[in-house]
Amino acid sequence: MKTLTLNNGNTIPQFGLGTWKSKPGEVKNAVKYALSIGYKHIDCAAIYGNETEVGEALKESFADNVVQREDIFITSKLWNNRHKKDDVVLGLKQTLKDLELDYLDLYLIHWPVAFKPEVIFPEDASGVLSLSEVPLIETWQGMEQAVNQGLVKNIGVSNFSIKKIDNIISNCSIKPAMNQVECHPYLQQDELLASCQQNDIVLTAYSPLGSKDRPDSLKQKNEPTLLENEVIKNIAEKYQVTTAQILIKWAIERGTVVIPKSVSPERIKQNFEAQNINLDTEDMEQIKTLNRNYRYVDGSFFAIPNSCYTVESIWG
Ligand code: A2P
Repeated sequence: MKTLTLNNGNTIPQFGLGTWKSKPGEVKNAVKYALSIGYKHIDCAAIYGNETEVGEALKESFADNVVQREDIFITSKLWNNRHKKDDVVLGLKQTLKDLELDYLDLYLIHWPVAFKPEVIFPEDASGVLSLSEVPLIETWQGMEQAVNQGLVKNIGVSNFSIKKIDNIISNCSIKPAMNQVECHPYLQQDELLASCQQNDIVLTAYSPLGSKDRPDSLKQKNEPTLLENEVIKNIAEKYQVTTAQILIKWAIERGTVVIPKSVSPERIKQNFEAQNINLDTEDMEQIKTLNRNYRYVDGSFFAIPNSCYTVESIWG
């Protein structure tokens, strides 16, 4: 499996298994199966509500000698209610306990949005903390403490704009190694990708297949279906593969990490095999024309009325 080198010399497998929306009853088998066929990278987060089951899958896979801990790469993410400096390590320790691990390979600030410690998801503005009350650089200092305590090897961010990353870079001791953002042919993120590459930050593409299993409350009416795009379909036909496989290989070809989610063994295998496809320059050129800056995960769920967060402030 291809790897990319992070800014501290560590490497990350370019292909991994996403676990957002994987239900607790399904995710354990998905992770075990993925590891058994060669996946080396599992992307997790506390807010996905399934880290305990991922932990069981890891523990059993280690016990059965399917993989060794040092041969795989595990990412998780700090939830919005753990942004205060001294809460970061607490959040990470809970994740380590759930995943039954001693250390993570990568820990990310999940969103540039802060909530009060006792609030998982605010019902109204009283549950949020502004970025003046808990600046992102304070949260970042907590992330640096986690590295210094040996709890995580690499740290980064998720859903961060160029401006927010620049602010961290100007004020940090340890530079962010990663920005994980939504990225696919409808949201190609050219400017953000170029800026990350200039700063030696790797970009991970989430929702690479268009996340069609999002809850209806997170969907817009008439949203475009990436997996049924005609251009992608034609390229898939040319190589006798599926549209999902073309989307995955496109992300790898662009030098990003990609983490398609699946809980179906057949699709987990199919997605893994996408790494073997060879896209040519013409395919890449055709896919380039599909960009429409379309976000499936548009952040509107954090635009809590009368709070300091708006869709513009989240992405800006
Ligand atoms: P499932 O878990 O049943 O396989 P994303 O990674 O963009 O969030 O997309 C995840 C969605 O795409 C899930 O609904 C997942 O369903 C589905 N999916 C994953 N792999 C494939 C594939 N190879 N072909 C079609 N759908 C897929």
